[in-house]
Amino acid sequence: MPSSSESAPDTSSTPIATARRLRWAVVGSGGIARRTVGDLRQCAQAEVVAICSRSAERAAAFAQAEGLPLAFGDYDRLCASPEVDAVYIGTPHSTHFALARQALQAGKHVLCEKPLVMRADEARALGRIAAERGVFLMEAMWMKFSPAVRKAVDLVAAGTIGEPRFLQAGLGYPVPPDGPARFWDAALGGGALYDMAVYTVTLARMFLGELVEVSATGTVRPDGVDLEEAITLRHVDGRLAQLATSITFMVPPRGWLGGRQGAIEFTEPLFSPAALRVTLGRPPAPPSVEELAFPREGAGYVPMFRAVHEAILAGQTEHPWHPVSATAEVLEILQRIQAALIADRDQRR
Ligand SMILES: NC(=O)c1ccc[n+]([C@@H]2O[C@H](COP(=O)([O-])OP(=O)(O)OC[C@H]3O[C@@H](n4cnc5c(N)ncnc54)[C@H](OP(=O)(O)O)[C@@H]3O)[C@@H](O)[C@H]2O)c1
Repeated sequence: MPSSSESAPDTSSTPIATARRLRWAVVGSGGIARRTVGDLRQCAQAEVVAICSRSAERAAAFAQAEGLPLAFGDYDRLCASPEVDAVYIGTPHSTHFALARQALQAGKHVLCEKPLVMRADEARALGRIAAERGVFLMEAMWMKFSPAVRKAVDLVAAGTIGEPRFLQAGLGYPVPPDGPARFWDAALGGGALYDMAVYTVTLARMFLGELVEVSATGTVRPDGVDLEEAITLRHVDGRLAQLATSITFMVPPRGWLGGRQGAIEFTEPLFSPAALRVTLGRPPAPPSVEELAFPREGAGYVPMFRAVHEAILAGQTEHPWHPVSATAEVLEILQRIQAALIADRDQRR
C-alpha cells in the first residue's frame, strides 16, 4: 500500500524555488554518467557543470565530449569546490557510502545510483548527516518517479483494484562473464540482488507494506555473489510477493499487482514501465482491460530529476516519494534475503 507520506513536495511557500539553477557534478565517467548528463540537461533548473573521475585524463576527455566547464581528477577537490551544489554518484555500489558521506559532509546535495549503499545502517547514517547539514540525499530510484508507477500509486490509493494482496515481479538477464565488473566482483557488491532485485523489492515494499518474513532459494557463489534466486516475501496482513532475479538467465522485466477487485500489470521495463494494463472484474463476467501508455522522457530519468530539483529548491533534505527511511527498509529486506540465500546454500552442502 502506498505510504501515507507519499505526497508531492509543497513548494507554495518557497518563492526562491524557481529563481536558481542547481550546479551538478557527475561522479564516475562510465555509461550511466552519459545518460545522467543527457537527462539532467532536460531539466530547466539543472546545470551540469562538472565530471569527476579517478583519472584526470578521463575527466578531461569526458568534459570535452560533453561540453562541461569543470573536470576533476580528484574527489577531494570536487567536494571542496564552491562551483558545485549537487553530486550525482554513478560508481559501483560498494563505493557509494564513502563518496556520499564525503559529499554530504562538504555540504553538497547527493543523488546516488541504486543501491544507495549496501546496508540499512549505512543509509541511516547518511540520512543523519544530510539532515544535520541541511542538504538533500536520495537514492536514484527512478522507477518510483516514472509516470506509470505514479499512476499505479494513484489507482491503488483510489481503490481501483481493491486492497493489493500480491505482487509478482521479475528482473534479470544473462550478464556476459566480461560484462560490467559490478555484477561479478564481490568487492564491488556484485550479484543480482543489490543490482536488480533492489527494484522488485522496492516495488513490493511500496505496495504491500511492512515485511514480516522472507524465504529465498537460489545459487550463491562461495564469495557471496548471488547468481539467481526465487524470493517469497510475506508482508503485513498476509500480503505476498514472489520475485525472481538473475544474472545468468533472462527474467522478463515486468510484474503485476493483484488486488481484491482487479490487477495492475507493469509492462516492460519494470524500472520505467512503458504501460500499465488494468484488469477489473471477475468470472463469469468478462474482465474489463484498459491499457495506459506512458511515453518515456529522455532515458527515463527526467521525471525523477525534476522531482529532485523541486524538493531541493524547496529546501527539503529528502523526497517524500523516496525518503532515506524507505531506502533503509529495502536494504534491510535485501540483507535478510541475502542471509536466507546463504543459509539455503549452506544447508544443501
Ligand atoms: N539506473 C540504471 O538504470 C542503472 C544502469 C546501470 C548502472 N546503474 C548503477 O550505476 C552504478 C554504476 O554502474 P556501472 O555499471 O556504470 O559501473 P562501472 O562501469 O563499473 O563504473 C562506473 C564508473 O565508476 C568509476 N569507478 C569504477 N570503479 C570504481 C571504484 N572502484 N571506485 C570508484 N569509482 C569507480 C569509473 O569511472 P572513473 O574511471 O571515471 O572513475 C567507472 O567508469 C551502479 O551502482 C549501478 O547500480 C544504474
